[in-house]
This record gives sequence, structure tokens and C-alpha cells, in this order.
Amino acid sequence: MGVRPLNLDQWLLVDEDRAADLNEIGALIDNHRDEIIYCEPSAVTACQELAVEVVEHLRGVSGLNTIELDQQPGIPVIESTRRLVQEDICLLQRRSEGWVMTACAVAIPTQWDVPSKFGTTLDSIHEPVPRYDSDLSHLMGTFFDRLRVDRPVWRANRTLTDDPSLRLAPHRRHEPLRQDVTSTNIAERVWLRVEYQTLRRLPQTEAIVFTIRILRQQIASVAEHPTALGELVQSLSKLPKDVRGYKDSTAVYGSLVKQWAISNGYLDPKKYE
Ligand code: HEM
Repeated sequence: MGVRPLNLDQWLLVDEDRAADLNEIGALIDNHRDEIIYCEPSAVTACQELAVEVVEHLRGVSGLNTIELDQQPGIPVIESTRRLVQEDICLLQRRSEGWVMTACAVAIPTQWDVPSKFGTTLDSIHEPVPRYDSDLSHLMGTFFDRLRVDRPVWRANRTLTDDPSLRLAPHRRHEPLRQDVTSTNIAERVWLRVEYQTLRRLPQTEAIVFTIRILRQQIASVAEHPTALGELVQSLSKLPKDVRGYKDSTAVYGSLVKQWAISNGYLDPKKYE
């Protein structure tokens, strides 16, 4: 599953893009609220507990010491919380059918259809993911049941894309790839998009909170760190066939990045060919 222990200082990341990101996210919520915000009545208490944790975390960040939740009447608390952070948020609760996403505020997904996942189980959320049933479903159910309040975790998911936008709509996954991206111009035309994901259980309500922070870096700038570039190329060249189909742009651009990195002397051809 690729999860590692999370130091709670690194739960929510704040950087110099915060103001710009929150402006863009606020506008997305204003214009597409029904596709972004979801909260079942049974999730309200957990969302309130989450809001308290988020505000407490942000108050520990320099410059945000007096931050408060702007709770407007009629606005779900998960929406007010989402407007404070650069992360998308999903909240899951244990039901007889499994772990269900009973609330979420997902404004900037990586090519997935958010409303179709409202109120559904982890298994059904991951239905389009190759090998999920065989390799992950059982492991994840057990992992979620056993996740301890004092043992939060993080994992990363990587995508290569020619679109540097924060929000990547699901239709992009099914569109043909750009033909004008080549192994000559890929360093400027393609971005590594990392979903920095965290999971933690809330102490009172025992709901599980899943956060997704989008981190973007142009390939040219990834190449300034040869170890990271090498690791990226290596991991993408091992993608099984069905996963390559699901992660179309990542697989195709991954091969072009490899060609570019070798022909420009960033990677040793003996190691990577
Ligand atoms: C340890 C926990 C988790 C693991 C190991 C995991 C694993 C994965 C993997 C391997 C993918 C395919 C993505 C890719 O390769 O680009 C995926 C996609 C996805 N995951 Fe997870 N996931 C986890 C937790 C969650 C949680 C808690 C949620 C939300 C409630 C979630 C929502 C999704 C969604 C929406 C997709 C995209 C599905 C689509 O294409 O429609 N994941 N996950």
C-alpha cells in the first residue's frame, strides 16, 4: 500500500502559494459546490471534530496563529474547513458495508469523478483502479479498521501530465494525448504531479480523515535532482500493462522523460536502458 508513518507536523502543508491556491479553490467551490462538497447528516459531528483539529494545526504555523473557521449559517463545516487549507479532504466512517466516504470537500481532483464517489465504500471508490480487488481491497479494509489515532500515515501517488492546472477534470483521462509533446520538449511541457496523501483517525468520533495535497513540478526542475529523476523513471518503467492503460499519460510521458534524460546526460544509459 506504500504507506509510511506521518509526523503530524507534516499533516497539512502551508507554502507561499497558499493565498493564490485558496482564492482559486474558493472560486471553484462557489461555481461547482455540488460537485465538490458532500456531507451526510451522520458525518456532521466528525466534520466538527476535524475542523477543530485543522484550526489547531494551522495556528501552529507562523503567520496563521490567530486563524479561525469562518462558519456561515447554512454552509457545511467541511466546506468552511476546506477554505482554510490547500488540501482536499475526504472523511470516512465505518458502516456495515465497509468504510464509506460520508463527507468530502474535493475541489482539485486528479482526473477522478468526485460526485460518483459520494457516500460510497472504499471498494466502490477504487472500482476503476486495476488490481485493486486482487491486491489492495482486503489489505486496505484491515488497515483502516486497525488504523490507530497515534499512528497516522502518508503515501504519495504520482502522475505525469501536460496540464499544470490545480484541478484536473476526469474527462482528461479519456482524451487523446497531445502529439506535440516529444522527448525533445518534454522537460518544459510536462509536470510531475504528486498527490501527497495522509490518513489519520480522529480520537473522538473515530472517523478517518484522508487529505490530498497536490504538489507540481516541471520535469526540467525535477531533473535538478538526479536521484529523484532516476527513481521516477525507474518506478514508471515497471508499471504493469493494465496500470499503464489506467495511467495513460503517465506511462507515455514516462518513456519520453526517460529518453530525454538519457540523451541529455541526466541518466546513465547503462543503468536505465
Ligand atoms: C492506504 C490507502 C490507499 C491506497 C493504498 C490507495 C490506492 C490507490 C491507487 C493505487 C490508486 C490508483 C491511482 C494511480 O495509480 O494513479 C487510487 C486511486 C484512487 N483512490 Fe485511493 N488509495 C488509498 C486511500 C484512498 C482513500 C481513503 C480514498 C478516498 C476516500 C481514495 C480515493 C481514490 C480515488 C478517488 C482514486 C481514483 C479512482 C478513479 O480513477 O476513479 N483512496 N488509490
